[in-house]
Amino acid sequence: MDVPLISHGDQAIFPEFAASEIGDISIRSAKAGDVHGMSALINHYASSNVMLARGPQYLFQHLQDYIVATAKLKNDGSNKEYVVGCAALNVLWADLAEVRSLAVHPSCQHNGLGAKIVKQLIERCASLEIPRVFCFTLVDKFFAGCGFEPFSRELLPPIVWAECSKCPKFYHCDEISMIYEVLQK
Ligand SMILES: CC(C)(COP(=O)(O)OP(=O)(O)OC[C@H]1O[C@@H](n2cnc3c(N)ncnc32)[C@H](O)[C@@H]1OP(=O)(O)O)[C@@H](O)C(=O)NCCC(=O)NCCS
Repeated sequence: MDVPLISHGDQAIFPEFAASEIGDISIRSAKAGDVHGMSALINHYASSNVMLARGPQYLFQHLQDYIVATAKLKNDGSNKEYVVGCAALNVLWADLAEVRSLAVHPSCQHNGLGAKIVKQLIERCASLEIPRVFCFTLVDKFFAGCGFEPFSRELLPPIVWAECSKCPKFYHCDEISMIYEVLQK
């Protein structure tokens, strides 16, 4: 049997393109082939400390949590699909899920894509019959626009702190906790 090898040739290069070059954008569940693009997008922002970095192992192991927004470039002969947005719904318990890794490519921002991605995650949460979803964020105005409200993180169950304790920001967290009551809306 062939032993699967890690390909050191795999690359997660952040794609540079202007808004005018981007074709129609669609949102779907993430696939294995999206991981390098997701990693490039997330780590583009993680490098300026606005979100947590995610490497390929984490993304493959949590692939089913993720949705991606993808687009082809106009006038691009290669027909390549680029990941221009992503986010994950991480189920923590029977009554609680978390939005993680939300990112929209800079050239696709302020067009409602971030809000559409969050709406799809909320719908996913509702279909799983999970009554509330929260996030830790620095963009509280964006999440407020999506219907989230600030709440005290002390109310979160210990399972959340287990995840928080893995975070490099654990001792000096500057993120705001926000919650959305899925089944009340
Ligand atoms: C936050 C982010 C996902 C928003 O994506 P987007 O596609 O631009 O969002 P939308 O167009 O749906 O925004 C809707 C509204 O939310 C607000 N908003 C959007 N981005 C915002 C930001 N960075 N800060 C504050 N408010 C913001 C605005 O009111 C916006 O309306 P406007 O474009 O008319 O001003 C995007 O800015 C991003 O990827 N940021 C870097 C990574 C990040 O911070 N992720 C969140 C981790 S929790």
